[in-house]
Amino acid sequence: MRKNIVAGNWKMNTTVQEGISLAQEVNGLLKNMKANCDVVICVPFTHLVPVNGVIDQNIVGLGAENCADKVKGAFTGEVSAQMVASTGANYVILGHSERRQYYGETNETLIEKTRLALENNLTPIFCVGEVLEERENGTYNDVVKSQVEALFSLSAEDFAKVVIAYEPVWAIGTGKTATSDQAQDMHAHIRNVIAEKYGVELAQEISILYGGSCKPSNAKELFAKPDVDGGLIGGAALEAASFIGIVEAFN
Ligand code: PGA
Repeated sequence: MRKNIVAGNWKMNTTVQEGISLAQEVNGLLKNMKANCDVVICVPFTHLVPVNGVIDQNIVGLGAENCADKVKGAFTGEVSAQMVASTGANYVILGHSERRQYYGETNETLIEKTRLALENNLTPIFCVGEVLEERENGTYNDVVKSQVEALFSLSAEDFAKVVIAYEPVWAIGTGKTATSDQAQDMHAHIRNVIAEKYGVELAQEISILYGGSCKPSNAKELFAKPDVDGGLIGGAALEAASFIGIVEAFN
């Protein structure tokens, strides 16, 4: 049975001190409930070590928001997968649309990042999703297919460790959520694309999260869809109560 996961993506928000408080609050609220899904917070690099010090990773997992496409060396300003793993983190978001859009990340660099994440025992949360124009001109299924195919040089054993996050770019931070039917259609499409390459059995084991203006008020309907296995949460993850409200959609 594949896992249900609710993962927060803090993006470039909170100071270290604010991040520690938020993480403590999330951990505290989760300790007092029985979450029916895995919960993860993905935080800025600067926050990984201090946040790891205040959470119980049996309650809430920890991840980074990116890692380098190189192992080590003269790459000023980059943070390697090994460095991320050495903080105690177990996850890393890769290929977020903001990385693709503003920092020129491509399929070529993303497969390297994914390989290095896996080599360092980090679970990649690999983001895919179309922009508004592609939604409107009807090419969205092909666009997302090619983003997923960027990982198809991985062995089946490695691909099985990846979590996919479908995040339609037009829904990120806009308050405009995909309908639960739009999400379900795309998640089923992604699962089919994976099944064609790796087989139905493996495709059924892959967790596919939805992201894009997910909040407590719409999470239940989205997560009720058979191929939606949780969410990648931006804005609503910056407040402990709303983040936990989304986790409760699985209860
Ligand atoms: P949002 O962001 O929930 O603020 O729309 C989601 C994401 O970008 O991961």
